[in-house]
Amino acid sequence: LKRVTTHSLQEMKTLGEKISMLTAYDYSLAKIVDGAGVDVILVGDSASNVMAGHETTLPITLDQMIYHASAVVRAAKRALIVVDLPFGSYQGNSEEALRSAIRIMKESGAHAVKLEGGAEIKESVTRVLSAGVPVMGHLGLTPQSIYKFGTYTVRAKEEEEAAKLIQDALVLQECGCFGIVLEKIPAPLAKKVSESLKVPTIGIGAGVDTDGQVLVLQDMLGINKDFKPRFLRRYADLHSVITGSIQNYVSDIKKKDFPNEKESYWNKK
Ligand code: KIV
Ligand code: NA
Repeated sequence: LKRVTTHSLQEMKTLGEKISMLTAYDYSLAKIVDGAGVDVILVGDSASNVMAGHETTLPITLDQMIYHASAVVRAAKRALIVVDLPFGSYQGNSEEALRSAIRIMKESGAHAVKLEGGAEIKESVTRVLSAGVPVMGHLGLTPQSIYKFGTYTVRAKEEEEAAKLIQDALVLQECGCFGIVLEKIPAPLAKKVSESLKVPTIGIGAGVDTDGQVLVLQDMLGINKDFKPRFLRRYADLHSVITGSIQNYVSDIKKKDFPNEKESYWNKK
């Protein structure tokens, strides 16, 4: 079982083999995701929403990201593990960015970090890379800037923002990023960026022409009934499966069906 590396991702782009990526935040699910053959596991700061119930990704801390990442590292034997640097741990201060990235690498054992933004975080990206830590970029809808955008709608529909995104992608590649996530942008723009870059792009809501795809695990498994953006394909309805199982458990208890004789311990005869 050979570990996926940033180099294997580059090779996949060259060969035209699409890259699969999913989030995971805990040991049990990361083990399943890794065993199922996903190339890259993202310990996303979406854990802030999915695991902790916050409305945005802003509140999650570096310590909490390290806790999630450590659990995923213990589970995954094949996938490359990328960890989001959380809001407030890298923007506007390259020294702090480096310190945060080093804490993630040292304390969790993950393989790379992801930072949101383009030219404006160039110094931080460069500094982290100079320490030998692989960096993934993230452009388009960048949820850590939600209060600047105002909404979670599609980004870069207008010419000006699209031109800036292309420029930012080139800057990140020039800095040495090994890949870039493109979130919620028009498919033709994502295609253009993917063709312009040597490094792989990973899309979420960016059409089929990026070099790979990423989704949030709990979303694609249908655990959260209410979140249904256009880009989300649901591969299971775990909300129903889990609800049904728990309802049966409750009802078995109420009617004294559980536990039965075989499920109980008995004295020696
Ligand atoms: O945190 C996250 O889950 C992400 C993906 C949506 C790319 O950054
Ligand atoms: Na994220």
